[in-house]
Amino acid sequence: MNPFPILLLGSGGREHALAWKLAQSPLCAQLFVAPGNPGIAASATLLPGIDILDGVAVADWALGNGIGLVVVGPEAPLAAGVADAVRAAGIPVFGPSAAAARLEASKGFTKELCDDANIPTAAYARFSALQPALAYLATQPVPIVVKADGLAAGKGVTVATTRAEAEEALRALFAEPGAEVVIEAFLEGEEVSFFVLADGATALPLLAAQDHKRVGDGDTGPNTGGMGAYAPARVFTPELQARTLREIVEPTLEAMARRGTPFTGVLFTGLMLTASGPSLIEYNVRFGDPECQVLMSLFDGDLAALLLAAAKGQLSGEEARWKPGAAATVVVAARGYPGTPARGGEISGLDAAQADGAIVFHAGTAHNAAGALVASGGRVLAVTATGSTVGEAVEKANAAVEKVSFADGFHRADIGWREIARERAES
Ligand code: AMP
Ligand code: GLY
Repeated sequence: MNPFPILLLGSGGREHALAWKLAQSPLCAQLFVAPGNPGIAASATLLPGIDILDGVAVADWALGNGIGLVVVGPEAPLAAGVADAVRAAGIPVFGPSAAAARLEASKGFTKELCDDANIPTAAYARFSALQPALAYLATQPVPIVVKADGLAAGKGVTVATTRAEAEEALRALFAEPGAEVVIEAFLEGEEVSFFVLADGATALPLLAAQDHKRVGDGDTGPNTGGMGAYAPARVFTPELQARTLREIVEPTLEAMARRGTPFTGVLFTGLMLTASGPSLIEYNVRFGDPECQVLMSLFDGDLAALLLAAAKGQLSGEEARWKPGAAATVVVAARGYPGTPARGGEISGLDAAQADGAIVFHAGTAHNAAGALVASGGRVLAVTATGSTVGEAVEKANAAVEKVSFADGFHRADIGWREIARERAES
């Protein structure tokens, strides 16, 4: 196959990692990223002028520029139907239709699908008004989980340890007109993010990673989009993977195909490994951020070829190869995150940070009027390294973080702690 130009949509750390890997692909003649970020500019042509939520604009640009594959990074364009518009224009697109993106966009939709297909997930109830939700809460044990039913960037969830905390979360969510809320049972266990490529029918397993959602060391403080990650997550054994494919992923793909909304793209399966087996916490219809940064660091193959195979319904017989060892990423966030982050703080030292093989993926950066690199989002950098063990990868990533100068930045110092404790116990 001849190389072709590729268009990637998005601007975060996930997209920087995807761009870095796509640009290395022999099939990639030229990489365009809309809108991209200053880190991505090193390996792609940025298109800041395209509205990535406008499917017609994206499809028109792709048609006019001979694009052979569109890769959609974040969930918002998927929920807005951008993949549908690109597919309708006859261009292969990696990412689900808006109908299939409901697996992420609506927790209620996913819960109903789990009921239909007998997929293990936490018991739940769904509410559109405060009073019935409070009445239900009063009958339930704590801890209990309260979730907004919609896209909330990982921040619409409260794991309440007391009923008062759950009540406060319900009142806050129902303060928004038209709110839909899910209350669900608390699942106990270790959490993993398992990634599977899907072409509408076939599931191709990638790797499992572990993310750190809480903002503070020791998994304390409010939930974030993710403060760091590592892969592979060995707690997700080959047996647990086989069981997850059989009990959760394959029934989901079958149910979606049966409903006439087959799923194409990457299915991010958020699992709790409970005493009675893997239980589905949530689906996302895109790569995790920052999980993608560790997956791409370990991926050993032609990413464009694999994503194109998924887009064309040709995954059967494909496989994903991985480098040996482990990868870890440490997110450097701006003071205030996950509340209101401090913007505009200057960042330097990235060359020094990358001198020993670590990669600094840009998550929320921009150039200011004077041309300096500054923070422009909550999560600013994802500093990523590989090693023979998770412990070694984290050590290298942390050493690289120390070389970054960013006065407004903070990071977690304990990324990978569960796995590092297991590695120490083994040696
Ligand atoms: P979600 O946006 O649904 O992934 O929820 C965000 C985070 O809240 C998850 O990654 C879990 O850490 C936690 N969480 C969500 N649902 C549950 C549950 N039923 N039991 C325990 N923890 C949960
Ligand atoms: N890191 C979790 C997510 O991308 O939703």
